[in-house]
Amino acid sequence: MTKLQKLVICTVISRMAKDKTIYTCTECGGTSPKWLGKCPHCNAWNTLIESAAESGGPAKNRYSSQFQSLAKASEVTTLSDIEAADMERTPTGHEELDRVLGGGIVEGGVVLIGGDPGIGKSTLLLQALDSLQRAGLNTLYVTGEESGAQVALRSRRLGLDGSQVKVLAEIQLEKILATLEATQPAIAVIDSIQTVYSDQLTSAPGSVAQVRECAAHLTRAAKSTGVCIVLVGHVTKEGALAGPRVLEHMVDTVLYFEGDTHSSFRLVRAIKNRFGAVNEIGVFAMTEKGLKGVANPSAIFLSQHSEPVPGSCVLVTLEGTRPMLVEIQALVDNGGPSPRRLSVGLDRDRLAMLLAVLHRHAGVACMDQDVFVNAVGGVRISEPAADLAVMLAITSSLRGKPLPKGFLAFGEVGLAGEVRPAPRGQERLKEAAKLGFSVAVVPKANAPKKPIEGLTIHAVERVEEAMNVVRSLG
Ligand SMILES: Nc1ncnc2c1ncn2[C@@H]1O[C@H](COP(=O)(O)OP(=O)(O)OP(=O)(O)O)[C@@H](O)[C@H]1O
Ligand SMILES: [Mg+2]
Repeated sequence: MTKLQKLVICTVISRMAKDKTIYTCTECGGTSPKWLGKCPHCNAWNTLIESAAESGGPAKNRYSSQFQSLAKASEVTTLSDIEAADMERTPTGHEELDRVLGGGIVEGGVVLIGGDPGIGKSTLLLQALDSLQRAGLNTLYVTGEESGAQVALRSRRLGLDGSQVKVLAEIQLEKILATLEATQPAIAVIDSIQTVYSDQLTSAPGSVAQVRECAAHLTRAAKSTGVCIVLVGHVTKEGALAGPRVLEHMVDTVLYFEGDTHSSFRLVRAIKNRFGAVNEIGVFAMTEKGLKGVANPSAIFLSQHSEPVPGSCVLVTLEGTRPMLVEIQALVDNGGPSPRRLSVGLDRDRLAMLLAVLHRHAGVACMDQDVFVNAVGGVRISEPAADLAVMLAITSSLRGKPLPKGFLAFGEVGLAGEVRPAPRGQERLKEAAKLGFSVAVVPKANAPKKPIEGLTIHAVERVEEAMNVVRSLG
């Protein structure tokens, strides 16, 4: 090795030692002292992100001291020897929120809640904190987006007079952690994680590195002190949570706000829950006094037409544990040379597939037509049991003939034109009968053994059969 080469290596090493920032690959975990477009270890592109390096020696991991102390404290135990005490949950005082949380907040639990701007995240969390504070819990609301005065103004509007919720207007992670340590709240809301930054990193708040680092520290604080932390997260234009995907893995529960900001109804859906069922939804109505739970939401996603209209079909969808009736609307209109297929609240790829099945197996051709499909009320439906209702709504619009009054349908449709059963069909039918629906087209396997009062059920095995039933009903 020449003298010059030695000098270069020494300079690089001493710079690395001085510089607190390194770049870590999100794919392989390899590090680099400077940012590179391609990871030098696994050759993946664009995967290096900034992370903080501890200056306490090259081989020392900055978490190692904590992990070592954990390792010393714990010992290996047989699963059957561990006392499985049921997780203690504290209800938030808002039944619909408790439903999605799996019964209430859990000690040391970390909840991530995302949603469109202005949908009501801060409103709901402030209301929940106030109820918990009134129930005798110590609470903390950390606001990085609004000033304390703005939060106070909102609390007055929500009618939370004399609220004892502690408010901290702060965005620096280290100060937030110190406050958590000093005040020892039972629950803390961080509104929002995108505004928080750590001194250890040079990148701007909201960057992938900052969000990841801050969420990791807060999660560790929750686990070690037992405080329940709720992180508010921004969403991207596509509706996914902004920031790294790893954020969703880090936390215990991920909740999403859904709904049309123009309507007053808001849905909170559990996407992930280590303490409860997923896909459970809580339904709220936005009022001047904040978000109010809707105890019986089955009929809120119906348009209430006085007379049946073409292109509308009601579906019973199962959201979490509750069946809900949702109106599917379709409009089929003459299209140009490249007809459009648009869907709101339903999967667009699935719509294209259903149109192909309609053509091949039921002889209903929409090739030269624009097709628009909408789930009423801003609700998002992901279950395939919506297929049959979507197809019947499209056919009804194409023919300009409404489906009969009190009609509903559900069932998954396969590429071979078969109608597959939907889970918990009986419950769906009972809910529909309760709301006064009288005719149902359902998959054969979902046909109830005993008749349901007031409901005429047509069980079908294939799409063409369903079309024939509808035609015979007039
Ligand atoms: N005076 C009012 N009367 C009725 N509703 C109001 C009133 N003021 C605000 N709102 C409702 O509260 C919503 C704002 O809620 P909130 O600030 O909790 O949303 P957010 O999800 O926290 O938004 P951001 O992402 O901007 O923080 C508004 O969209 C509006 O619907
Ligand atoms: Mg907000």
